Amino acid sequence: MSAVKVGVTGAAGQIGYSILPMICSGQMLGADTKIDLALLDIPQCEDALRGVAMEINDSAFPLLNSLKYGSDPREILRDLDIIIFLGGFPRKAGMERKELLQKNMNIFKEQGTALNEVGKPTTLCLVVANPANTNCLVLAHHAPNIPRKNFTAMTRLDHNRASFQIANRVGALTIDVKNVAIWGNHSSTQYPDVNHGTVRGGAIRPAVNDDEWLNGEFISCVQKRGAAIIAARKLSSAMSAAKAAVDHVRDWYLGTKDGEWVSMAVLSDGSYGIDTGLCYSFPCTCSNREWHIVQGLDINEFSRDKMNLTKQELTEERDEAFSA
Ligand code: NAD
Ligand code: LMR
Repeated sequence: MSAVKVGVTGAAGQIGYSILPMICSGQMLGADTKIDLALLDIPQCEDALRGVAMEINDSAFPLLNSLKYGSDPREILRDLDIIIFLGGFPRKAGMERKELLQKNMNIFKEQGTALNEVGKPTTLCLVVANPANTNCLVLAHHAPNIPRKNFTAMTRLDHNRASFQIANRVGALTIDVKNVAIWGNHSSTQYPDVNHGTVRGGAIRPAVNDDEWLNGEFISCVQKRGAAIIAARKLSSAMSAAKAAVDHVRDWYLGTKDGEWVSMAVLSDGSYGIDTGLCYSFPCTCSNREWHIVQGLDINEFSRDKMNLTKQELTEERDEAFSA
């Protein structure tokens, strides 16, 4: 099999440092798949990126077929099969959300424009950089030559966080927890939903047997987990974000397991009343490198209110992003 061409933007950053060894050791695409790696960062981080590239080479990964790096998106993003977008402008103290949105919109406009010229109709894109859903929407908007289905944003970290909280509550392993769902935005308005999930093969609600916790503390813990990690580490999550990005791409590229779904933010097709085109997280299955929104789930009033709240936030972000 020929090597898969994988690009990573923001590769000199924290998540980059965690994800690159995972990709090169086969955790993302399997132990038999060779990788052509292409790394992008900004010119100011040229030295740091060169250092990362030296370390990748010095790791002598058997699956690494080739490595290139640089700061020109037109060169680095050319002809790739998969791109993981980590690069973005971080939130600084006192910065308004609008300002953060605007700075990132400019980055994703530039990269989308480049991708439109040098990408392939089969290039699969995962946006991790925050605000991930809206960055993804902007990227897709500026790359009309690439199919809309190829653009996704990451809520797998939230999905994994929710699975851990349930497993921990009932004394199970995360592998015993299936089919939690994250709806909406990768932000504190997201809705982690356990109503369709199972733990050790039985429904989560009766297994946990504490609706007050499930409807309150559990939801707010998952919603605010990113902020809790920043408060503790003085840095945002990196190891768990890298693992989640690898999980997201692996399941998208190689397919989800029978009877199981994962959470992915995708450009809505109108399912569950979410406006077409909004980048919203849904429960999805994947096969043949395509995602499919899980259909037919019963949505109760409690869930519907929470799904609407996060939809409202995404609508406002979209309007702000495209208002400049
Ligand atoms: P970081 O600041 O350590 O690294 C970001 C890197 O991006 C830096 O090396 C920077 O130079 C680079 N960069 C900035 N602008 C760029 C551009 N135009 N082109 C290419 N590279 C560029 O940040 P990090 O901790 O690695 O996190 C990366 C992003 O992921 C952040 O936006 C963070 O908020 C987000 N994040 C998302 C999730 C999620 O679940 N979706 C989880 C954790 C972090
Ligand atoms: C996370 O969920 O850990 C991050 O998105 C937090 C952040 O603001 O970078």
